[in-house]
Amino acid sequence: MPNLDISSHGDDFTADPYPYYAKLRAAGPVHRVALENGDLVWLVVGHEACREALNHPGLSKDWQASEYFGDVVASAVNNHMLESDPPRHTRLRRLVSREFTARRVEAMRPRVQQITDELLEGMAAEGARRTDLIRSLAFPLPMTVICELLGVPDLDREQFRRWSNEVVAPSSTAASSEALAAVAGYLAELIEDKRRRPGEDLMSALIRTRDEGGDRLGHEELVGMAFLLLVAGHETTVNLIGNGVRALLDHPDQLAALRADWGLLDGAVEEMLRYDGPVENSTYRFAREDTEIAGVRIAAGDAVLVSLAGAGRDPGRFPEPDTFDIRRAPQGHLAFGHGIHFCLGAPLARLEGRIAVRSLLTRFPGLAADPEGGRPEWIPGTLIRGAKQLPVRW
Ligand code: HEM
Repeated sequence: MPNLDISSHGDDFTADPYPYYAKLRAAGPVHRVALENGDLVWLVVGHEACREALNHPGLSKDWQASEYFGDVVASAVNNHMLESDPPRHTRLRRLVSREFTARRVEAMRPRVQQITDELLEGMAAEGARRTDLIRSLAFPLPMTVICELLGVPDLDREQFRRWSNEVVAPSSTAASSEALAAVAGYLAELIEDKRRRPGEDLMSALIRTRDEGGDRLGHEELVGMAFLLLVAGHETTVNLIGNGVRALLDHPDQLAALRADWGLLDGAVEEMLRYDGPVENSTYRFAREDTEIAGVRIAAGDAVLVSLAGAGRDPGRFPEPDTFDIRRAPQGHLAFGHGIHFCLGAPLARLEGRIAVRSLLTRFPGLAADPEGGRPEWIPGTLIRGAKQLPVRW
């Protein structure tokens, strides 16, 4: 019997999973859990145990080496850096890190500010003094930034979103194979185009780059990397902005404190990541052989999910974890993961989050939640945490 059957809690769980994780954590750091899709996984919920699991040499990210997703077809698109182990992971990460540098991110700053300002102007021009902040700012900002960074400004975003949803959460084997083929075809064409007409963008740089030994990314690796960056770049930062602004609007004292002292901004964004971060649970890991996490035995082949939401609310690590406190300085939170797969885009996500929050609050001094905007729909599944809408008024 699983310790938690998420499928039986339905909407309640998706709207607010934290009480469920708290109950599990109080009973121990590692549990057998049934997910909505019927999968049985080990869920790690304590902060220390989560750190251990994220960096555990006995856990593999290589789903093809396990039998867990038996009917999924491997393709360049679902065979990328986040789904691989060393030495392949080490090599891919080394090559992408040569080009996706702090300098390249910092160079995006003026453009991130400009895109944000344009979106906020668009919002002000709507006239009704109310909007859905996900549609007006939280989604278009990261999507535009990642597309410009990679050099795909004219990406058909709705089409790409449908493909990426199908790859991340397949509705059927046939639909997923179709999406994999379509997105791989699209990205292959894009890469060919960049080879012919290289620009200053990250994709052109990744095609060009060679390390000291002359090693470089192959065609399939470039397709996988482009997909990973596009998906990781737009599915997550949306919800840093959405969940973060919602937390501020729900806590007027914290909102007032931030408005009074912008020196609190960087800490406020870290607290948003700890309190209600975009990645609720990590991607899948698989036990290579019989192993242990926090003293609990995991059998060879079993799947493990690391609950980043559970870790962020662990009272053993963060006192009064359910309190949103922008002065807390929640160093060591796991919202960007930990270990070799630590988020490559964290500096860019932080840059976007800080600029979005500050510019939004400055441009709209009277910003508040809009109770007439209706109840939000929550993103289904347990990977991404966020609402599909955030109605606000000013
Ligand atoms: C607030 C926004 C973001 C959050 C909370 C976030 C969170 C994460 C987490 C938790 C992981 C590790 C997953 C695991 O180990 O299972 C990860 C990996 C990754 N993220 Fe992010 N991410 C964000 C934004 C971004 C952005 C903007 C990019 C790219 C532009 C990006 C690129 C990546 C990549 C490439 C990896 C894989 C790293 C590897 O396998 O070595 N992320 N992210």
